[in-house]
Amino acid sequence: MNDNLHQLRCCGCGVRIRREQAGSIFRCKDCGDLFEVEYPGWDLAAGSASRGTDRPNAGALRWVWRERRASSELLDHSGVWRFRELLPILDSFGNAVTLREGNTPLYHLTRTARSLGIDQLFAKHQGMNPTGSFKDTGMTSALSVAKERSYKWVACASTGNTSAAMAAYAARAGLRSLVLIPQGKIAWGKLSQSMDYGAVTCQLNTDFDGCMKVLSTIVQQAPVYLLNSVNPYRLEGQKTPALEIAEYFDWSVPEHIIVPGGNLANSSALGKGFREMKALGLISRLPKISIVQAEGANPLVRSFAQSGGKSIEPVAANTRATAIRIGNPASWRKAVRVIEETGGWCLDVTEGEIAVAKAELGLEGIGCEPASAVTLAGLKKLKAAGHVEASDTVVLLLTGHTLKDADYTIGFHRGTLLEPEEAAQVAGEMAGLRRDAVEVEATPDAVLNALGEIEGRWDS
Ligand code: F0G
Repeated sequence: MNDNLHQLRCCGCGVRIRREQAGSIFRCKDCGDLFEVEYPGWDLAAGSASRGTDRPNAGALRWVWRERRASSELLDHSGVWRFRELLPILDSFGNAVTLREGNTPLYHLTRTARSLGIDQLFAKHQGMNPTGSFKDTGMTSALSVAKERSYKWVACASTGNTSAAMAAYAARAGLRSLVLIPQGKIAWGKLSQSMDYGAVTCQLNTDFDGCMKVLSTIVQQAPVYLLNSVNPYRLEGQKTPALEIAEYFDWSVPEHIIVPGGNLANSSALGKGFREMKALGLISRLPKISIVQAEGANPLVRSFAQSGGKSIEPVAANTRATAIRIGNPASWRKAVRVIEETGGWCLDVTEGEIAVAKAELGLEGIGCEPASAVTLAGLKKLKAAGHVEASDTVVLLLTGHTLKDADYTIGFHRGTLLEPEEAAQVAGEMAGLRRDAVEVEATPDAVLNALGEIEGRWDS
């Protein structure tokens, strides 16, 4: 049986192509926009040729997905392929390359909820994936397509997490991988991963957007499969956290989901996941999806302010949250659609606000990388603006593990991360959060004295 039920549709002009026609470029020949994966057999519209012939039944899906949790089959252990009926993109699911991604925890953030005056606040921690970021969910799907189509080489430009994920999945599949990263502008943890997993890693003297430009020419000249998120198969895997969230809440959905925005594929993928679940009758309404960017890398925020999301002007991006240091996001049009159809917001936060939010998530015993912390910083602003009610259930999507960028965390606690004027803006919040390590003589008395000095009455 062929498991493949999809076609590709251009988000700009709506033209449809067969999957073989996409090659490795993933831009529409007519209008230059991106494609998205579409399943014509799910469509119930009267004019549709296949009119619902492959449309899965919502009740049966819920049952089979739950049953698979107890299954011993490798594919069922993946939090992506457990939902494989919603991503029929392979000729055979037997070709899937998996590292048991997905199935990530949804943590209750009780302390933060209390301090913000929100009843129910959760963090869906995508940093708990095999390579430490949400990219694994999209890499298992797109790299499986590369393998099935017999590519020998895969490639991506990256701010670090895509490259770590791609290198790992390529190694598992026995494919070679080429990574282009901006020199000196990615966290060491991420660079070390692509080396460890055997990628050919090129540091280019440019930013992420420059790396992307170089790579888009390379894929036209060499038989390498492009695994950046312009590849629509990435989004098919990346939509599955939406399914996990809906399943967790017993197929009702939270009022609000907040995600970081860089190249804007993640927000687009989550929106697609909820949209498809609603179309299939798995859920009855969409959650609001809001996107938060760093103030120094905020092209989507500017797009809404300047043109209501109709056009985008690239910016020269700069933020210490290096994962989202992106000035010319590829998936901006898809992200605009998600905000408009769900009624979410797009906003930005300062470097100080990101640092404080990251430390607060650390104190919940969870932690995340700086790019993920924009979600909490954004939530505070949304709450203050009255866009989030006290009775709302809110989910923050944390995208990367705290160990990805230990330099950032240490810089914060040592007081060397922020410029004085940035720190001054958040001085009050920072005061109780910094926990620098102290050097102490190797005696019990010295340690007890240090405890007393740091904590005051530490024994109570
Ligand atoms: N959070 C983290 C930790 C990321 O690594 C990224 C993107 C994002 C958020 C933003 O997601 O691009 O889909 O809007 N990292 C890419 C990379 C660009 O190359 O690893 P997005």
